[in-house]
Amino acid sequence: MGTSLRGLGGFQQQYREAVHRMGEFLAYRVMRQWLRSDWIFSLTSKGKEQKKMLKILHGFTKRIIAERKLYHDRTNGQYLKSFDNDTSAKRDDAEPVGMRRKRLAMLDLLIAASRDGLMTDSDIQEEVDLFMFAGHDTTAMGLCYILALLAEHNDIQDRVRNEVNTALQENEQKYTMKLLQNLPYLERCIKEALRLYPSVFFISRIPAEDVKLLHRDPNFWSNPEVFDPDRFLPEKIRHRHPYSYLPFSAGPRNCIGQRFAILEMKAMIASLIHNFYLEPIDYLKNLQMQVDLVLRPAKPLRVKFIPVCKTNASFETQISI
Ligand code: HEM
Repeated sequence: MGTSLRGLGGFQQQYREAVHRMGEFLAYRVMRQWLRSDWIFSLTSKGKEQKKMLKILHGFTKRIIAERKLYHDRTNGQYLKSFDNDTSAKRDDAEPVGMRRKRLAMLDLLIAASRDGLMTDSDIQEEVDLFMFAGHDTTAMGLCYILALLAEHNDIQDRVRNEVNTALQENEQKYTMKLLQNLPYLERCIKEALRLYPSVFFISRIPAEDVKLLHRDPNFWSNPEVFDPDRFLPEKIRHRHPYSYLPFSAGPRNCIGQRFAILEMKAMIASLIHNFYLEPIDYLKNLQMQVDLVLRPAKPLRVKFIPVCKTNASFETQISI
């Protein structure tokens, strides 16, 4: 959105908690047919709590949108206008990650569309809410499982580290978009982790015919329980059924953020693997899930981070959210 949650203190913490609670309410209702009616649900204690959570969520996004609009009013919309003439797309690829970019953030694009009369304020809010929801825990959960898998597979972890270190050496130790787009082995690891542990593990559709979608079906994946990133080598993907792998769904309503999500995860993992050795504390074979919209572990899934330079100064951190 082009907006940082930092500095918003308790407000942003409340927002995060409200996002989690909403996920829990949705999962709770999905499992209980009789609560699918909004009216019946609104009479329950959870329904009343949901009303409060929605107030927090909408209050937060309204504030973010209002602040951004004010910024564009104060700057006379000049940054929105410059987008139309922006020819910097190519240059951006070599720009260090984290630096101010010339392209507009999604919220700015929506504001530009509303200035052209193409969207109302509530349209903007719906999009912002959807993106905050769909892009938050999904990527966070994906990251947790990838880190846990890398911690349990030292050989694969070393290969990722070598790839990242070589790419950094060739790129003056800078994380750029170009660097992140060229980490094929890390990308295969991410895809393989999403096969075994897809953050979005269910998709609601009315199928026109019987379908069987299984990420662990031995008809499509040999030794399906094994973490093997090389399943995603181009020559191996070529002959696979297109619907045997659907972490981002497929068809007209598939995940609009999938390329961004993979890039985000690459950015996080590349920098972590460059700086830390990962070791497991909890093992995925003991994993228990909780009912939720995303594949969330019931208990913390912990990984030990050992700094690469100072191997004696290890510390533990929990990677469960
Ligand atoms: C590992 C990360 C992610 C996974 C596994 C994932 C997975 C999915 C899946 C399976 C769907 C289809 C859900 C359905 O139709 O029932 C979906 C939809 C969507 N995702 Fe993602 N997603 C991820 C990250 C993101 C990110 C980072 C964004 C935004 C920045 C995003 C935005 C969306 C949106 C807006 C939709 C709804 C699209 C529509 O209905 O037309 N997702 N995602």
